[in-house]
Amino acid sequence: MHITDAHIRSELAKLEIELRPGTALSTLTSLGIGGSTDLLRIRRHESLPALLDLLDRHHVPHKFLGGGSNLLIDDGELPWVVVQLVKPEPELRLEGNLAHVSAAADLGRTVTFCARHNLGGMEGLIGVPGTVGGALRMNAGAYGTQIGNYVREVQVYRAARRRIEILRGEQISFEYRHTSFAAGDMMLAVTLALPSKPYQEILEGIRICNEKRRSSQPMGQKSAGCIFKNPPGASAGRLIDELGLKGRNVGDARVSDRHANFFVNSGQASASDMFRLIAQVSAEVEKAYGVKLENEVVVWSS
Ligand code: EPU
Repeated sequence: MHITDAHIRSELAKLEIELRPGTALSTLTSLGIGGSTDLLRIRRHESLPALLDLLDRHHVPHKFLGGGSNLLIDDGELPWVVVQLVKPEPELRLEGNLAHVSAAADLGRTVTFCARHNLGGMEGLIGVPGTVGGALRMNAGAYGTQIGNYVREVQVYRAARRRIEILRGEQISFEYRHTSFAAGDMMLAVTLALPSKPYQEILEGIRICNEKRRSSQPMGQKSAGCIFKNPPGASAGRLIDELGLKGRNVGDARVSDRHANFFVNSGQASASDMFRLIAQVSAEVEKAYGVKLENEVVVWSS
């Protein structure tokens, strides 16, 4: 979608919002898949309510983009614009056991920065790609930990009320890869309360998680992490593997040889290749086990 209206463009400039017309979203997703649309980059959180009023008044649909690491975006010209926060400086500030972090901050760098200041707990999240905001929205987790466990407070733009609010951790429900945030909420910043731990001990935890990940997940390949949620009491990766589906492909969309719940883009895969692969694999799993797999990856179809 292209914003051509001169009035909207001048309002965006007044709000100090950078417009990047016709951005290829494939450059902003870890899968390397996604069509094109206008990208709006926000420097000041306070301009969000005014921006969204402006977009609504002119009937311009929008979506919020985090780190693009758990996202499958459709091909072609997309019917909505994309809004993204620009990382503020500094992106992270410590105050005793509390870490005040921008939603745009990189999750991995946040874990290591806190570690260097003897704040632990999040070792399992090392290697989970993406931003802190994205991790928060999905309640990212790995190796027995999840980000929701450490949330003290979240600053969020609440679309339904059209304003920025501060929520306490207890007001948010964090479940398996799911939170009580509404679809139109945009994460702005979070305060994490982290347990004190000696740096060396945290490093050792990080090393173990890195090793586990390296031995079981495809690294350095374009993917969106796990495609499906694990069904209760089972592992989607194991179910798919047991059906011999590793290496199955539709075009360049391929079931990883390493971990069957990771689907990789081995070249020029399109979203439609990936959608077809997802449909094939879930149909085979349902036929064999009677289990309907649910997507873990977030899908933006046009
Ligand atoms: N397995 C296979 N074949 C495979 C993959 C896995 O047999 O191709 C077996 C493993 O050998 C193991 C079991 O299945 O016995 C579970 O596998 P793994 O430990 O890799 O964990 P998972 O359940 O597949 C979950 C999360 C991952 C997270 C890991 C580590 C989901 C959907 N997946 O995977 O998260 O990194 O645990 O904690 O919750 C993600 O959210 O995108 C993600 C990758």
